[in-house]
Order: sequence, then structure tokens, then C-alpha cells
Amino acid sequence: MDGPWIDLSGQVAVITGAAAGIGQASAEAIARAGAAVILLDRDHVGVAAAAAALDKVGCKVVARTHDVTQENDWQALGDWIAAEWGRLDILVNSAGIARFDRVDASIFPTYHEVFAVNVEGTLRGMALALDHMRLVGRGAIVNVSSTASLKGNPAMASYGASKAAVSHFTRSAALETNRAGLDIRINAVLPGFTETGMAQQVYDQFDAKLGGREQTLQVFASGRPAQPAEIADLILFLVSDRASFISGSIYSIDRAQGA
Ligand SMILES: NC(=O)c1ccc[n+]([C@@H]2O[C@H](COP(=O)([O-])OP(=O)(O)OC[C@H]3O[C@@H](n4cnc5c(N)ncnc54)[C@H](O)[C@@H]3O)[C@@H](O)[C@H]2O)c1
Repeated sequence: MDGPWIDLSGQVAVITGAAAGIGQASAEAIARAGAAVILLDRDHVGVAAAAAALDKVGCKVVARTHDVTQENDWQALGDWIAAEWGRLDILVNSAGIARFDRVDASIFPTYHEVFAVNVEGTLRGMALALDHMRLVGRGAIVNVSSTASLKGNPAMASYGASKAAVSHFTRSAALETNRAGLDIRINAVLPGFTETGMAQQVYDQFDAKLGGREQTLQVFASGRPAQPAEIADLILFLVSDRASFISGSIYSIDRAQGA
């Protein structure tokens, strides 16, 4: 194949949670591969800054304030994409939150909050993308799950369960599109501990308790956290035609943290 190894030029990508962390890094990677990128985040200052930082890449970039839990925001986005772009090729569902909780009667507020963003937000994103992608019979979706979905999670019970749900919906949706004969690939990535705002929550909670940052990293990251760009590279691969035979797959990216 001639040309760059990954070429997304002419494609339109939506990335949720794009103001920071893994979402922001994914938006940059996808933009550098030539796609037009639509950055969504409920943090309107952050998402505008993330979009401005992408000007250097020279791609089409738009920031939208968007809360993934709000049906109205998805409705407005769908109408706008149809009117302005006429296509949607790529969706990365990266918006997510983590809360500390455990399985007892106090869990319900955090359970509702975490499931609304991580599960319902991801589902709404998939629903919107599939509406657009079914019209042309092709597209690629990556959901950001977590290695926390793979085993019990005593400090963040709702978070782990929400990510297990994300992985399961990923598989189910991929089976549906595949059985319908559509070239719409849907995969999930499961990052291990990654240096983002979410990691900061863990540092704030555990550094003092465990005796310092080094100890926290030893417990949560087997030594070193991932950088968001390292996760974004896998996401970029999965949304590209290089991954043309990959759908319904769940990829841990954790440098053997869970091995
Ligand atoms: N950092 C880690 O260690 C780690 C590990 C595994 C998985 N993940 C997952 O990666 C994804 C990205 O997280 P991150 O680590 O980059 O954290 P982050 O906090 O840096 O970024 C998350 C972004 O999502 C946005 N967001 C939160 N709720 C939203 C909502 N309702 N609507 C729109 N935007 C919303 C935030 O404003 C923020 O910009 C999340 O789904 C997270 O669960 C993170």
C-alpha cells in the first residue's frame, strides 16, 4: 500500500472526553492521521483549549460543549453532524469518571453517577454513531474501558462494574453489526493506570496513606503509569483500516500490570 501507514484523510471523527487525558491524546493522534475531528467535553474551557492546541496539526477541528449523559446534547450533535458534515466515520468514547466507593448501602449515589457517564454516555454515543454509520455501512468505534473491568475492585466498585458493562456492550454491538453484514467495527481498549486527571484522584487518595508517590505507583501501576499518547496509539490503530479484521475485541494495554 502506498502512502502513510495510517491515513484517515477525508474522514470525520468524534471524540468524547476530549478536553483532557486519553480523549485529548486520541483526538490529536486521529487529527495527525488526517481526519477532521470534533472534540466533545462537558468542560467547555478545556475542550476549547484542546481544540486550539490542535491548530498546529493543520486539520479541521471543532470543539463542542457536550455532556454525554444528556440526550439533548446527543440529539443536537446528530442534527448538526447530518447538516454540517453529512458523515461520521469514527467515534472514540473516552469520557469517563471514577469514584471511590464500595458495595454497601452508601453506594447508590456514586453508582448512579458513574453508570450515567461511563455506561449510558458510551451507549448514547454508540447509538448516535451507528445511526450515521449504518447509512453508509461502514465506520469504526472504540470504547475506552479499563483493566479495572477484569477483576474485583474494592476501592472503586461502581467504576469496575461500569467498565465491565462497556466491554460487554462493545462485544454485543460488534456482533450485531457483523451479523448485519456491515463493515462497522467496534472495539474496546482497557488501559491500565494512565497519567491523567483520573490518576491524580488516586494520588490524592493514596499517596499519604501508602507512604508516597513511588509506593502508589507500585501498587496501581507496577512501577510506571502509561502516558495518554501510548493509549491513543492503540486507539488510532483500531479506528484505521489497518485493523480491518478486528471487531468485538477487547485489548488490555497495561504493560503486564494485570498479567
Ligand atoms: N487514567 C487512567 O488510569 C485510566 C485507566 C483506565 C481507563 N481510563 C478511562 O479513560 C477514559 C479517559 O479518562 P482519563 O484518564 O483521560 O481522565 P481525564 O479525567 O483526564 O479525562 C476525562 C475527560 O472526560 C470528561 N468528562 C467527564 N464526564 C463527562 C461527561 N458527562 N460528558 C462529557 N465529558 C465528560 C472530563 O471533563 C475529562 O475531560 C475514561 O473513560 C477512563 O475511565 C483511565
